[in-house]
Amino acid sequence: MLAERMKRLGTETAFEVLARAKAMEAEGRDIVHLEIGEPDFDTPSNIIDATVKALRAGYTHYGPSAGLPDTKKVFSEFLARDRGVEVKPENIVVTPGAKPILFFSILALVDEGDEVIYPNPGFPIYESVINFVGAKPVPIPLREERAFSFDLDEMKGLVNDKTKLIIVNSPQNPTGGVLTPEDMKGIAELAVKHDAWILSDEIYSKVIYEGKHVSMYDYPEAMDRTILLEGHSKTYAMTGWRLGFAAMPVPLAEQISKLQTNSTSCTCSFTQMAGIEALTGPQDDSRKMVAEFKVRRDLIVDGLNEIPGFKCLRPKGAFYVFPNITEIGMKSKELEDHLLEKAGVAGLSGTSFGEYGEGYLRFSYANSQENIRKALAKIKEVL
Ligand SMILES: Cc1ncc(COP(=O)(O)O)c(C=O)c1O
Repeated sequence: MLAERMKRLGTETAFEVLARAKAMEAEGRDIVHLEIGEPDFDTPSNIIDATVKALRAGYTHYGPSAGLPDTKKVFSEFLARDRGVEVKPENIVVTPGAKPILFFSILALVDEGDEVIYPNPGFPIYESVINFVGAKPVPIPLREERAFSFDLDEMKGLVNDKTKLIIVNSPQNPTGGVLTPEDMKGIAELAVKHDAWILSDEIYSKVIYEGKHVSMYDYPEAMDRTILLEGHSKTYAMTGWRLGFAAMPVPLAEQISKLQTNSTSCTCSFTQMAGIEALTGPQDDSRKMVAEFKVRRDLIVDGLNEIPGFKCLRPKGAFYVFPNITEIGMKSKELEDHLLEKAGVAGLSGTSFGEYGEGYLRFSYANSQENIRKALAKIKEVL
């Protein structure tokens, strides 16, 4: 028999739909993949070259759990430069992908019975891990009419003295929405007032098309209660390398490092050297990738809005669209299945991201313009 807590662990349906779509391909079906959230570009070659060099130089051993000293130095300097605040190497914890930061932060901070506020629709791992530790998940709905931000008054009604942690994510998965300075400031003030922690998931900070990224570090009053999550997966097309990091107050960094000692030991040493090259080397490939995402965003938004029943906002960040499909007259999951079976287009039901995702689908446009055009034509045909 499994432990009781396993009943409370959720999952990320993108991986399930991907497996189903792959099985259909193995049977000879032609599928366009708009389900998985990863850049279709290769990792820039300067990063690969630096990694080969690191392998030859012997970066093949264990390192300190919080990260190699050089890595923590470079990552802290990047955050200090990018966000305009003081960040020291001892504030940094390096992890295999950004996901463990979510897991470890919730494990380290949240007790059974505590309340955690998280965006809904949102990255499904938030709700899953909140439930896993026996805390109470308190969803804050993201509203289409607010360009997928939340209502600050509604947020005020949800925060109370049991609130241990508030999770924010901007640019956002699955909607592509970005939070405004007023939203971020409002959260910082609420966290201070109610003595809560903030986990600011800023993994898409460089995948932004209009305006400047608004960071939780723009609000220094909350810095001593903020975990700022960053990572290489999306910005540098490094999803399979497994590299992420976060900045946080030193006492928490020590505890999160201990969780890492108890689980992964440390992040792969040559991957960390790749991460240094990514942040200090030329940024042209990453910028080109974001410019191409912007073209694709416009292509998919305009294309979807031409299909009767779809109503799609033009998101300002990440590489997802989250069209409203209520006029089609099918539930989100039903439409996800219908498009996969009949059109060979793999997308995700909005409900994969929580209850407030009903009435929406998520498409990732991290796929070629040709494939996006093909998907649009096929969707039009079967509806
Ligand atoms: C909002 C958000 N946070 C965190 C992650 C995790 O990133 P990583 O692949 O680096 O673990 C993802 C990945 O999809 C994401 O969308």
